[in-house]
Amino acid sequence: MEFWKRSHLCGDLRLSDSSNRVTLSGWVRRRRDHGGVIFIDLCDRTGLTQVVFSPEAGSDAHRAAQELRSEFVVAVRGEVRPRPEGTVNPKIPTGEIELFADGLQIINPSLTPPFPIEDEEELQEEVRLRYRYLDLRRPSMLNNLRLRHRVTARTRQYLDGEGFWEIETPLLTRSTPEGARDYLVPSRVHPGKFYALPQSPQLFKQMLMVSGVDKYFQIARCLRDEDLRADRQPEHTQIDLEMSFVEPEDIFRVVEGLVGTLFGEFRGVEMERPLKRMTYAEAMLKYGSDKPDLRFGLEIREAGEIFAGSGFRVFRETLDSGGAVRGLAVPGGASLSLKQLDELTEFCRRAGAGGLLWILFREGGGLKSPIKKFLSEGELNRLRETFSCSEGDCLMLVADRPEKAAEVIGRLRLKLAADLGLVPKDRYEFLWVVDFPLFGYNPEEKRFEAVHHPFTSPHPEDLELLETDPGKVRSRAYDLVLNGTELGGGSIRIHREQVQKQVFSLLNIGPEEAESRFGFLLEALRHGAPPHGGIALGLDRLLMLMGGLSSIRDVITFPKTQKAICLTTGSPSEVDPRQLKDLHIALAAPPQ
Ligand code: AMO
Repeated sequence: MEFWKRSHLCGDLRLSDSSNRVTLSGWVRRRRDHGGVIFIDLCDRTGLTQVVFSPEAGSDAHRAAQELRSEFVVAVRGEVRPRPEGTVNPKIPTGEIELFADGLQIINPSLTPPFPIEDEEELQEEVRLRYRYLDLRRPSMLNNLRLRHRVTARTRQYLDGEGFWEIETPLLTRSTPEGARDYLVPSRVHPGKFYALPQSPQLFKQMLMVSGVDKYFQIARCLRDEDLRADRQPEHTQIDLEMSFVEPEDIFRVVEGLVGTLFGEFRGVEMERPLKRMTYAEAMLKYGSDKPDLRFGLEIREAGEIFAGSGFRVFRETLDSGGAVRGLAVPGGASLSLKQLDELTEFCRRAGAGGLLWILFREGGGLKSPIKKFLSEGELNRLRETFSCSEGDCLMLVADRPEKAAEVIGRLRLKLAADLGLVPKDRYEFLWVVDFPLFGYNPEEKRFEAVHHPFTSPHPEDLELLETDPGKVRSRAYDLVLNGTELGGGSIRIHREQVQKQVFSLLNIGPEEAESRFGFLLEALRHGAPPHGGIALGLDRLLMLMGGLSSIRDVITFPKTQKAICLTTGSPSEVDPRQLKDLHIALAAPPQ
């Protein structure tokens, strides 16, 4: 045997194991030399055991222990002993014992690691990603990996129990329109042709419904070439599901059951069921976002009516041209300084609004506002009433196109909550956002775009509007939102070819283009497609929120940087010119 086989793991031993002879193996974390007696913390993924090398126990072992350095891989033999009085460590499960070693085998030495393998350290992310295997060796990161494993295992078990079949779908496929750019893979066999990596398994899972699969799921990898953010990666994983003969309620029940089970079992959080629901229109009005964070108040209200005849030109002109005035009251906000108010105004400007107007309702009844002289007593009274403002509060107002006003004040709401410390920790506020519009208008390209994706069913009550006023059609799409993050999105799909063609045509996808890009789907719809719908939950986001982490990269084993680079392996990279030749590819310009 090349190395001594371990009898226990580093997190196993307890007081009841005292006097037993054991063999442990793992990594040397900390080493302390106490006047002849050497202590090491021996670690593996289960925890750590304190090992003692005393000259009297085994002089060979003790001598060898002097060679030990951080992260050497070793095997240690010896006797389990209770720790002497006063040296017990109640913070760790093995804190009552130590391993009194009489044998040491250095299995493999290690270079000095670029950072200590500890949780406390504030580490630079670049270095962490460059040495990801060491970063993952840290207990908090191993914990994230374990949580990920347990969540996927429990998800499989839960969905199996609900009658879902786990089915794989191809990675080399055709473009699926989820709103991002595709990653393309050139075909060697078919010069000039490309596969697209799937942005989601959307069309395959719909075809599986046509096959009669009835309930499908997949822990599916999705690839999207889009701008990265703290909660976005080029490769992400979805808990993807689809069901036949269902209405939104059926999807909600399954997802609430799954998410409730996961948060209950892994976080001890009891999720109130059924979850709250809010229409898209209400979310945009009250929270200025389609993914409202309900952990705090600062609700937004409409103030347009109050200013209909305002002497303040900016408000009146905005309202006359179909715009909106939206506001929110900041409790205690009258103590904000002019400097702070200037910064908030600048924030709103950068977000695209003309600015921010504020009214400080001073303690004692005074008023301070740059628009004080334009405010009538009647307007002030109505503002106080509408926004439930009292002395000491600050009212903030934004006037703009309705969508812009909603967006800017929604972002201001989030900023204020963060700046003023209004976001409670350990609180989970879930909700469903429903009744999204089917189309959004892209003013630059002067055309409609699908708000969810082009396969989403219009609301049955709005079918006639498809002909007359498509911008007003609601869809049967829904998003699951948690603490202001979109955790999942799905919809009831179009299962009739005619409706699908009509939607394509409103999206400026003409009959020929529809046939060439999605002919296979249209054909499937002609062959007995059942009514169906589904959803996909972002697994990485789910884990990030469960773990209370601020970056999605902490739950992805080998993530990409904000610039879509894998620092561990150095991808993307140049390739051998022969490979390019095989793929019939000539580079237009030498790489920079
Ligand atoms: P959608 O595009 O809304 O829907 O994606 C579903 C969920 O996946 C997560 N997500 C991401 N997570 C990390 N990085 C990304 N780049 C990223 N993009 C999306 C989000 C999101 O809510 N086929 C449809 C689902 C359906 O209709 O059934 C789809 O992919 O949490």
